[in-house]
Amino acid sequence: MPADPWRLHGGAIAAAAHSFGIPVSDWLDLSTGISPHSYPVPPLPLQTWHCLPDAGATARLQAVAASYYGAPGPTCVLPVAGTQAAIQWLPRILGPAQDVAILAPTYAEHARAWAAAGHRVHTVARVEDIPSACRTLVIVNPNNPDGRVLTAAQVLALAERHCVVVDEAFADVMPEVSVAGHCDRAPLIVLRSIGKFFGLAGLRLGFVIAAPALIAQLAEAQGPWAVSGPALAIGSEALVDAGWIAAARASLARAAHRLDALLAAAGLTVIGGTDLFRLATDADARGLFDHLARNGILVRPFTDQPQWLRFGLPGDDAAFARLEAALRSRPAVTLGLLRAVDT
Ligand SMILES: Cc1ncc(COP(=O)(O)O)c(C=O)c1O
Repeated sequence: MPADPWRLHGGAIAAAAHSFGIPVSDWLDLSTGISPHSYPVPPLPLQTWHCLPDAGATARLQAVAASYYGAPGPTCVLPVAGTQAAIQWLPRILGPAQDVAILAPTYAEHARAWAAAGHRVHTVARVEDIPSACRTLVIVNPNNPDGRVLTAAQVLALAERHCVVVDEAFADVMPEVSVAGHCDRAPLIVLRSIGKFFGLAGLRLGFVIAAPALIAQLAEAQGPWAVSGPALAIGSEALVDAGWIAAARASLARAAHRLDALLAAAGLTVIGGTDLFRLATDADARGLFDHLARNGILVRPFTDQPQWLRFGLPGDDAAFARLEAALRSRPAVTLGLLRAVDT
């Protein structure tokens, strides 16, 4: 039985291909916040593939990452196999069952992982609504999917009262919001990802940035060789490539702007996002999702917010043109619905 495409996670191209009968290779995947421009991965010596990753490679990446993220030092940085690995581990090692607040709506894996580890999860729409029993607070900043941003000062103020886990998976395009530099002083745990901005989600590399004692605890929990040698090597090159990083930031900002214009011209209302994805509302988002999918374009729907669609960035002119053509060819019934709502 094929999965209901409306309920798919981002990036579920194989399931969409099955549901809509379109080969995987024919899809334009706009369902994630992964940059369409991957960091140009260098060829690696056979040795890197052949040997277990050594401590030197880990130490090199810790130093490079501390500098890129502005962490207090390499002992505050732990490479992990994608941010998701830390999202899974943290609830299990951060003490006995407790009340945990999560600023929502957000990336659903946080609530799932804390609940699965036996904690009592409270999702709150505003920081003002955090129940007083909650010692721990989870924030995605900037947020996925709506791009809500707390300033670094606001996050640090929250860390005066809570242990704050800040998922900064999308902060590469907004480095000014990061609190990574404060992790040794405040009860702050920052998560960073190589998957999104560097377009390397398949590499499975991310970081936890926190006080050295917690980093040591997490390193112990994940065990040896949790991050592959190729990931350590590629991460060490990508994070020091200042020219590529600056060019990527500029090009993502241009693409996000262009996407906003295209969506607005098609009658959607852009309500938020970051330079890695845009969130739009539509009176018939479900109809539009299906129409785009029948044209081989996958975007991200939200079952609990049925008027929302999240769009990743098209990677080139051809992808923009394909999206534009599909939006223009929207069936009259959907357009009619839109007009009825407009008036
Ligand atoms: C907010 C957020 N954090 C973390 C992740 C997982 O990222 P990674 O590929 O680093 O595991 C995602 C993936 O979509 C995400 O949206």
